[in-house]
Amino acid sequence: VGDGAWAEYMVAEASRCIPLNPEVSLHDAAMLLVNPLTAWALIDSAIGAGHQAAIQTAAASALGKMILKLAAHRQFPLIHVVRKEAQVRELTDMGAKWVLNSESGDFEAHLRARAAEGSATVCFEAVAGKLANTVLRAMPRGSELWSYGGLSGEPCQIDPVILVYEEKVVRGFWGPPTLYKDREKLSAAVQEIQQKIDTVFKTNVREKLPLREFEKALNLYQESMGAGKLLFVME
Ligand SMILES: NC(=O)c1ccc[n+]([C@@H]2O[C@H](COP(=O)([O-])OP(=O)(O)OC[C@H]3O[C@@H](n4cnc5c(N)ncnc54)[C@H](OP(=O)(O)O)[C@@H]3O)[C@@H](O)[C@H]2O)c1
Repeated sequence: VGDGAWAEYMVAEASRCIPLNPEVSLHDAAMLLVNPLTAWALIDSAIGAGHQAAIQTAAASALGKMILKLAAHRQFPLIHVVRKEAQVRELTDMGAKWVLNSESGDFEAHLRARAAEGSATVCFEAVAGKLANTVLRAMPRGSELWSYGGLSGEPCQIDPVILVYEEKVVRGFWGPPTLYKDREKLSAAVQEIQQKIDTVFKTNVREKLPLREFEKALNLYQESMGAGKLLFVME
C-alpha cells in the first residue's frame, strides 16, 4: 500500500515484478504475491535445510491449505494443528494424515508422539502466544520454530528452558523476500504457482466488494477468517 497499491500507475523495481501468464486471471494474480510465494518458500526452505517432516499451526487458513497441498505434491510429511473439530474434518477430507486439535486435552502428548515418530523438526508457526511454546516443547531436541504470523495477537511466549537445555531455535520467516533474494528460485516458484493456480495454490474467495465497502469487508473477515478471502474490485 505504501508503494501505491491503489494507484492506477506506480514505479516498481523490475526485479520485483512478476510476468503474468495470460491464462492467470487478474483476481488470482492479486493473490499471487503473498500466500503462494510464502507456501512455496516454506516448503522449499524446510526441504533444503534437510528436515524430514514439519508441523504447521493455523493449518486451516488459506495459506495452511496451500502448504498442505504443496507438501503432498512434494511428498513431504506434515502434521497439521487446528483449533476446531470441523477443521480437523476439513483437512482430513483434503487428504491430511495427521490433524490435531490444539483445544483437545491430550493435544501436547499426541503432538509429541507424532513429531518423534515422524522426525518433525521444524514448525511453520502462525499463531504465536502460548501455542508457540506448547508446540516447540513437544518437538524433538534441536527443533526449529519458524514464526511467520501472529494470529493470536500475542507475542510468542517461549520458555528459555527449552531453548537452552533442548537446544531449540526460534526464528522469523518472511516468505516473499526469501525468494526475491534468489532470482532462479523466484522464477521457478512463480512458474509453478501460475501452472497450479487452480489446484495447489487455489484461494477460496468469499465475496468481491467495491473499495467503498471496505468496512463491511473488514468486519466480514474478522467474523470468520476461514470463510475465504474478500477481494476489492475497482468500479
Ligand atoms: N510471513 C509471511 O511471509 C506471511 C505471508 C503470508 C501470510 N502470513 C501470515 O499467515 C497467516 C495466515 O494467513 P492467511 O491469509 O492464510 O489467513 P486466513 O485464510 O485469513 O485464515 C486465518 C486462519 O487463522 C485461524 N486463526 C485465527 N486466529 C487464530 C488463533 N488465535 N489461533 C489459531 N488459529 C487462528 C483462523 O481459524 P478460525 O476459522 O478458527 O478463526 C483461520 O483459519 C496470517 O497470520 C498472515 O499474516 C505470513
